[in-house]
Amino acid sequence: MTFDPQTLRAAFGRFLTGVTVVTTRGADGTAYGFTANSFTSVSMDPPLVLVCPGKFLSSFDVFANCSHFAINILAEGQEDVANTFAGYKGDRFARVTWSDDIHGIPVIDGAIAQFSCSTHHIMPAGDHIVLMGQVRDFSQRDALGLGYSAGRFFSLGMERDAATAHPNTPQIAGAIIEYDGKILMQRSHDFWSLPQVETTPDTSARQNLMALCDTLGLGAKLGKVFSIYTDRASGRRYTYIQAHATTAPPDSAGTLIPIADLDQIKVASPAHSAMLARYAIERATGHFNLYVGYDHSGDIHSHDERP
Ligand SMILES: Cc1cc2nc3c(=O)[nH]c(=O)nc-3n(C[C@H](O)[C@H](O)[C@H](O)COP(=O)(O)O)c2cc1C
Repeated sequence: MTFDPQTLRAAFGRFLTGVTVVTTRGADGTAYGFTANSFTSVSMDPPLVLVCPGKFLSSFDVFANCSHFAINILAEGQEDVANTFAGYKGDRFARVTWSDDIHGIPVIDGAIAQFSCSTHHIMPAGDHIVLMGQVRDFSQRDALGLGYSAGRFFSLGMERDAATAHPNTPQIAGAIIEYDGKILMQRSHDFWSLPQVETTPDTSARQNLMALCDTLGLGAKLGKVFSIYTDRASGRRYTYIQAHATTAPPDSAGTLIPIADLDQIKVASPAHSAMLARYAIERATGHFNLYVGYDHSGDIHSHDERP
């Protein structure tokens, strides 16, 4: 019986996994690595683990012949590492920090567990091989892993925090108010920030922002939500909504900064600078997306996406 490969891949992908990066060195010492979710711990005595490299990998021959390799279990927030080792065609190791393990195999900083293995057994398995390793050394730390399901990364921390968010945690609503190719920013001490307000219970971010615009003497039309994120340190949730000023904002409302100069100003947090940088890029393409997540990691959703 033949199966439709796409449907079969989707069915396999229903299995929730973590994400690892498998690393080794070639005979000339070159470092190789690829992202894998086929990792399984197999045996305690002896300690065995396995992973399945595909024959499609450009590094397949190296892994199929390696005497030692390492498995790095990625932490939540290491999506960029996973993406690098899944798709980047240049020097993947130049994009991460790493060190050599006891066998001289690169292990990736920030991983929540690292297993240094000698090759125990290699078994052909269709268009993959089963690469089984005996664990010769390992390290681990108490942190949450990066998850993967149905073709998307997810973070347990995010799910848990969302489920346990305290109802009294203050929420902040902010507006990215554009006028004449410029964004309205407000200065407080050394830092610039978007006009924003702590929201009151039982009112929406939009209602609070409309009231803020009134207070600032601004005629503004609110548009799409641009970003929703939780600040991990404070637990505060921030919602930023796009807006257009219908008339020139009064001086007392803030300063208009050209979009092209937004990367020159000092803003209150890295989350803000990342958000403004994305705004500048998306303004240029005219296609705005929605960010949902945490201050340091999250997902970008197209407004056109349908569930
Ligand atoms: C979450 C995730 C899990 C993956 N798991 C595996 C795997 O178990 N085995 C495998 O061969 N490729 C896996 N891949 C694909 C490889 O990482 C990818 O094809 C490889 O890095 C391409 O490297 P290359 O450009 O050197 O061929 C996975 C990719 C992702 C994003």
